[in-house]
Amino acid sequence: MSENPSLSNLLKEERRFAPPAELAAQANVTAEAYEQAKADRLGFWAEQARRLTWATEPTETLDWSNPPFAKWFQDGRLNVAYNCVDRHVEAGNGDRVAIHFEGEPGDSRSITYAELKDEVSRAANALLELGVRKGDRVAVYMPMIPETAIAMLACARIGAAHSVVFGGFSADALATRIEDADARVVITADGGYRRGKPSALKPAVDDAVSREGTTVEHVVVVRRTGQEVAWTEGRDVWWHELTQKQPAEHTAEAFEAEHPLFILYTSGTTGRPKGILHTSGGYLTQVAYTHWSVFDLKPETDVYWCTADVGWVTGHSYIVYGPLANGATQVMYEGTPDTPHQGRFWEIVQKYKVSILYTAPTAIRTFMKWGDDIPAKFDLSSLRVLGSVGEPINPEAWIWYRKHIGGDRTPVVDTWWQTETGGIMISPLPGVTEAKPGSAQRPLPGIAATVVDDEATEVPDGGGGYLVLTEPWPSMLRTIWGDDQRFLDTYWSRFEGKYFAGDGAKKDDDGDIWLLGRVDDVMLVSGHNISTTEVESALVSHPSVAEAAVVGAADETTGQAIVAFVILRGTAAETADLVGELRNHVGATLGPIAKPKRILPVGELPKTRSGKIMRRLLRDVAENRQLGDVTTLTDSTVMDLIQEKLPAAPSED
Ligand code: WT7
Repeated sequence: MSENPSLSNLLKEERRFAPPAELAAQANVTAEAYEQAKADRLGFWAEQARRLTWATEPTETLDWSNPPFAKWFQDGRLNVAYNCVDRHVEAGNGDRVAIHFEGEPGDSRSITYAELKDEVSRAANALLELGVRKGDRVAVYMPMIPETAIAMLACARIGAAHSVVFGGFSADALATRIEDADARVVITADGGYRRGKPSALKPAVDDAVSREGTTVEHVVVVRRTGQEVAWTEGRDVWWHELTQKQPAEHTAEAFEAEHPLFILYTSGTTGRPKGILHTSGGYLTQVAYTHWSVFDLKPETDVYWCTADVGWVTGHSYIVYGPLANGATQVMYEGTPDTPHQGRFWEIVQKYKVSILYTAPTAIRTFMKWGDDIPAKFDLSSLRVLGSVGEPINPEAWIWYRKHIGGDRTPVVDTWWQTETGGIMISPLPGVTEAKPGSAQRPLPGIAATVVDDEATEVPDGGGGYLVLTEPWPSMLRTIWGDDQRFLDTYWSRFEGKYFAGDGAKKDDDGDIWLLGRVDDVMLVSGHNISTTEVESALVSHPSVAEAAVVGAADETTGQAIVAFVILRGTAAETADLVGELRNHVGATLGPIAKPKRILPVGELPKTRSGKIMRRLLRDVAENRQLGDVTTLTDSTVMDLIQEKLPAAPSED
């Protein structure tokens, strides 16, 4: 990206949004936090660690004597579950609702912190009865129900690391993850509700644990849907039978700050899944701090809702650990945004008076496509902060989110982070930052991030390159489970002494950071580096386009040619004129070099189950290749429809 600095800043965004005065006046964090953390970064994190209740206070903040293997707060001892549950009860907040659970079929249930304490204690006693001990691993393969959070906290309480596997993954994916982590127990459910029907989970577990050499001794099954399940006596146990007979008392033992808390697998684009290891004290410090600062959380009055699945890191850090460590009241929703109707999210916001909403750009673009009239039917006036995570948010989607969901008054915080970073790293602060649609803007206080070129030299403002993290942070991954060498090779070898995130990024003239997608997605057209994200944002800024995915396809003359797949908005008709207009629109927005060679209107885009567009498959289509692995797609028929369209599409030369 370095050879064409003029092209690294194609997208211009002039709109600015100051923090609302009322919010700024009582914001949890002021601009001083940046100064304070800059003057004494470790002192800043030591202070944040005091948000937690330690059995033994740490005296040492960071041991970085053997980089990149960090030890944060290593002589401190604490229990993570105690911090997320018991201490709120002891502080007199036992009656506060921890979780408002909303099932997809409409059943609901509210759980207070006092009730959560009893449930987590029972589940901890139950795991002990099954022989699970400190240092063991437990796999969790669950729908979005409170028992999932309870199971994770029960593991944390007894010092067993959980490995949550997303409930949409196959038996094979589950088996690989169980095997890699040597899990002794699997916690699952008979099933969950998905798009109006019960879907099964237990058969995949039965399949996964029936393989040769399995380490699994017990399968604990939550009854959610009541559907028939196959049963293996001696191995399988019902959650309700096992937990109900346990005492609601369990004394939480304190563990070292660096005791493993969980393993979470990221698949990446190639190779075996990587077991990302997170530990206790530093992780909890950063997720608690960032949940409090980035969302301006007021635990007494806010109702927070993160729409992610607990199977992803967003669910770990911003449904379970961050919000509960902060004593927040939150909504947990089992289902999809379109069941039973396309206003379901807004109905939930209205019902619980949600004040902080955290969701993903893919969801926001879907809501845009469904139309402004849907959210307009609901009372969304309780909202005061909106968050986004998972991919770059196109400026147009950002504007739509603020306007149609946030009533043109709420700040939108675009939060950049990764499974590996454990917590939010780059984000505006809602009471401090003048927001720019589409940019994650600045590293949070205590975080050091920048953009470098191929030679690891920091680029000046206005330049583009690779996003790196230049100082260790408390919630950083500690290694890849069982594979230190892969940890070094993947993240620490590209740029000496720096963590390479794998994302392309640019700095604008104010020094604000813009994320440009995974570096594998950057295109090289006639010697110019062009980011897929920028071309997609340009397309989405046209009123006829709801969503866009751009890839570089091999091209004899230009090296790569830009091919765009677009989903049109409800009313737009697919005509050759419109395609021409879209090309010109991109040309006018970014410059002629960025004009797509081909634009194909399609009905859907291929996405992973976490909502990321699978550009790799679109590249296969654009290059007329046999499709690669489609097993992680949400809906594999999408690709057939896209392939059918291809020959008919006009191409411009
Ligand atoms: C990758 C990490 C972080 C939880 C969910 C995803 C992309 C994430 C943003 C953002 C631009 C983003 C990056 C990153 N990403 N948030 N706000 N702006 N890109 O976790 O599955 O580990 O994916 O998601 O490419 O590297 P993950």
